[in-house]
Amino acid sequence: MGRTPFIAGNWKMFKTIPEAVSFVRALKSSLTGLSGVEVAVCPPFTALAPVAEILRGSGIAVGAQDVFWEERGAYTGEVSPLMLKDAGCSCVIIGHSERRQFFGESDEKVNRKVKAALACGLTPIMCVGETLVQRENGITEKVVGEQTEAGLSGLSPEQAAGVVIAYEPVWAIGTGKTASDEDAQQVIAFIRRLVNDLYGFGTAERIRIQYGGSVKPGNAAGLLARPDIDGALVGGASLEIESFVGIIRAAAPGI
Ligand code: 13P
Repeated sequence: MGRTPFIAGNWKMFKTIPEAVSFVRALKSSLTGLSGVEVAVCPPFTALAPVAEILRGSGIAVGAQDVFWEERGAYTGEVSPLMLKDAGCSCVIIGHSERRQFFGESDEKVNRKVKAALACGLTPIMCVGETLVQRENGITEKVVGEQTEAGLSGLSPEQAAGVVIAYEPVWAIGTGKTASDEDAQQVIAFIRRLVNDLYGFGTAERIRIQYGGSVKPGNAAGLLARPDIDGALVGGASLEIESFVGIIRAAAPGI
């Protein structure tokens, strides 16, 4: 059974509500007849509900960019998995390198968030990736392996199969430097072997692993043609209709 490619747009801290609404209206009409690829947009929290309202029934999913692990309580500023469901989300980005770097997100917190998202029926898009220094020191697999193992810790093989992993080398994010198709394939194949060792063949065959880091319409097809790369987590190029749709078309040329 083949894995359906999954293209998700991480808008980061961009777009007001009116900007988000007009973007997804246009996206929806560009993607009528969407098939053979899963697509999600991940706006800032403020735009989630209005965006989900417009995309309801369109086949385009909505995700958040972070989540807290408790369902409710005195946690000023946090948003729970239940609240994301309520706003119309079906997925959530967890452990993005910007959160690890600027907001103290540890592997342990990532793991708690992954578990909480799954418990609520949200698909976690769990990000892993090495820095440039780590790559230059030859410890990419060690770093990515530890992040993956810790992030998935305590899940059943069935639960792990439902996680989407996004391999995003930190040095390729927002820099215009993409990992070569071969470099991305190698690390992603390594992650799949690790999942195989931890959770067995069935999980490794089913789990989807995206590449992220300066994905553009021009480099998407080459990356997506690699056997273990199941999609893309797109930052900058997901903010414009033309480039985002170009990447989606690279995943499903029939659209
Ligand atoms: P860019 O596509 O802008 O490099 O961002 C990648 C990213 O961080 C997606 O989560």
